[in-house]
Order: sequence, then C-alpha cells, then structure tokens
Amino acid sequence: MSQDNTSLQLEKVVDQAEDFLPLLGTDYVELYVGNAKQAAHYYMSAWGFQPLAYAGLETGVKDRVSYVLVQDKIRLVLTSPLQQDGPVNEHINKHGDGVKVVALWVDDAAKSWKETTSRGAESCMEPKTMEDENGKVVLSGIHTYGETLHIFVERGAYNGPFLPGFKAWNPYYRSKETGLKFIDHMVGNVGWNEMNKWCEFYAKVMGFAQLVSFDDKDISTDYTALMSKVMSNGNGRIKFPINEPAEGRKKSQIEEYIDFYNGAGVQHIAVATDNIIETVSALKERGVEFLYVPETYYDTVLDRVGEIDEDLEPLKKHGILIDRDEEGYLLQLFTKPVLDRPTMFFEIIQRKGAKSFGKGNFKALFEAIEREQELRGTL
Ligand code: FE2
Repeated sequence: MSQDNTSLQLEKVVDQAEDFLPLLGTDYVELYVGNAKQAAHYYMSAWGFQPLAYAGLETGVKDRVSYVLVQDKIRLVLTSPLQQDGPVNEHINKHGDGVKVVALWVDDAAKSWKETTSRGAESCMEPKTMEDENGKVVLSGIHTYGETLHIFVERGAYNGPFLPGFKAWNPYYRSKETGLKFIDHMVGNVGWNEMNKWCEFYAKVMGFAQLVSFDDKDISTDYTALMSKVMSNGNGRIKFPINEPAEGRKKSQIEEYIDFYNGAGVQHIAVATDNIIETVSALKERGVEFLYVPETYYDTVLDRVGEIDEDLEPLKKHGILIDRDEEGYLLQLFTKPVLDRPTMFFEIIQRKGAKSFGKGNFKALFEAIEREQELRGTL
C-alpha cells in the first residue's frame, strides 16, 4: 500500500480490525535502567516530567527500585536493580538501558490475557489482582518482540497514585512541563526478515490491522535501507510501527540498533505536543539533543508540503521537519539516542490533521542518522 492512499484506507482498515482486545490507551512505559534515581532526575529536569510514585526498600520491595513520572497522559516507570543478580540486572547487562514494558490500559485484564494467549501469545503474567487502601488493580501480561513485554492494566477500581505497592513520591524538586501530551506511537526494531512475523503477531494475537507499509525503495538513502509496517489497534489509539533492516551499501540504523541492543526492542517513543516549536525550544534549553537536518531542507520544503500555519523561520531554527498527507500535515523532530548505547530515542510530533508518519522526511532523517553513525564508526 502506498502512502498516497493510506489515509483514505485507514478508517476502513481500522473498522475491519477485529476488536477482541479493546485498548483504552498506553498505560505506562517501563524502562530498565542502570540508575533509576538519576534517570528520574533527567526526565524531570530535561523533559519536564513530574514525580508521581515510588517503590523500593521504603515500601517493602527488596530487589528493585522504581520511580514513576508523569506528564499529561504519559507515565514513565524507571526501574533499577538493588542486588547483584536477577532479571533486571540481566536485562541491563544484555541491552543497556531500554524499554522493558509497554503497558496497555484495558477494562478487563483477565479477558485481555485470555484473548491473546488463546491466539498464541506467550504469557509472562497470569491475571493477578493487587489491592491496597486505594482499591484494586488487575494485571496480566504477554511477551512481544525481543524481551519486551505488554502488561494489561485494569485500573477502573483504583484511586492510588500508580499501582498497589507504590506510594506517592513528593520530592521538593519540580520542573516546568514541556508540553508533552500523550504517546502517539511506539516503534519496534526487529531482526532481519522478522518484520512480517511480528506484524502477523499483532494482527493475529492482538487484532491489530496494518495501516501502511514502507519498503526499501521508500526508506533508503545512498547508503542504508530499512523496511517498516505500521500496525494499529481497532480504535487507532495504539500504533506500533515495526522496522526491520534491509540490504544497503552500508550498515542500516536498524542493524546498528540490533547490534547494540542485542536483539529486538523499542526503537523510539513518539510523543505528541500541541505546540512543537515551544516544546522543542524548552527541551533544547534543558539540554535534549536533536538530530540535525541541513538548512537546504527548508529551501524546498514548502513546495512539497504547501501552506502551513507556522512561520518557517522557527521551524528552520530548530530543524523541525514537515510532511503532508491527504488529511493535513504534521511537524516532527527526532532526538539523538537518550541512552549510552545508540539504541532508543524520542520523536516529538505535532499532528495538524495528518495521520501518517512523515514518509516525505525519511530520506533527510536517515541521512541525519547516518551522519551520527559515521561519528560512532558504525555506518
Ligand atoms: Fe515515529
């Protein structure tokens, strides 16, 4: 399917998605990191997240510590091990810091588990009820690509700060929010020839439909290539593009990711804002690093995308990219990796009608990534 008719087909395709797994949204994203306390400070000071909840020795947890941060509808959980051995340590040794859990908000966690495991998902957590003085939560979970998990969270009967076992976290330090609203999409990188397998997983096991696909002709530069398909759930709130490397003259960015992450995993988290110029200026002032696009991009961009509401100057100043589809346009910008390894990064996106993913920017974007790969000696 080419992107030119993607939007027209999008609603039809989503209607056809069998919604045996109604998802209300992304509940939280949990990263396993080497030093959760310092990572929490980074996401507060640089990204404007607010402290929400905490679990650790003081709450009776002996083997790990977790800090929960929030900004509008986005909840981030940062978890580090407290002891020498264990699953969190193993995950960090193998992958570096990275996303362990993409949690999905549901009305019925037991049913979500049953519907997905009966269709072939491998369980990582049978439905379990957790209670405290704030009510009860039901959790269940399944494995997805790599060592990443989907946890289903049923929290309709819960009023606490996060989950049972967590207490409210109220440090005196607060930073100003940067306008991040919700997770627009989360992208997975998988190994050679594995994209179709994982798209089929999302279709068969979770009832997702394919919105759009890009092949190596769409996504290639002089040097590197990748392939991508975008899977969406029935109501369109959850969108998971899946990338795999493709043969190019040099090493693909997906291959670089797989090498350093030691397998498949979450490549980027795209977060939505209502004002990308303000959000990106605030993030840059606080030290978040973005990919650089040559100024020549702006010489011809309006010929390609037509009229836009924004002045071109501030977009050019910050290197914000623009793309258009049949329904409108979008503004987007990508950070450099936010971890030590060249693995996970963030995308900031503002949609003004467009439902697509910025295909018109792929070439400029990937050339920007290649310049970074060159500096790392991994191109
Ligand atoms: Fe994206």
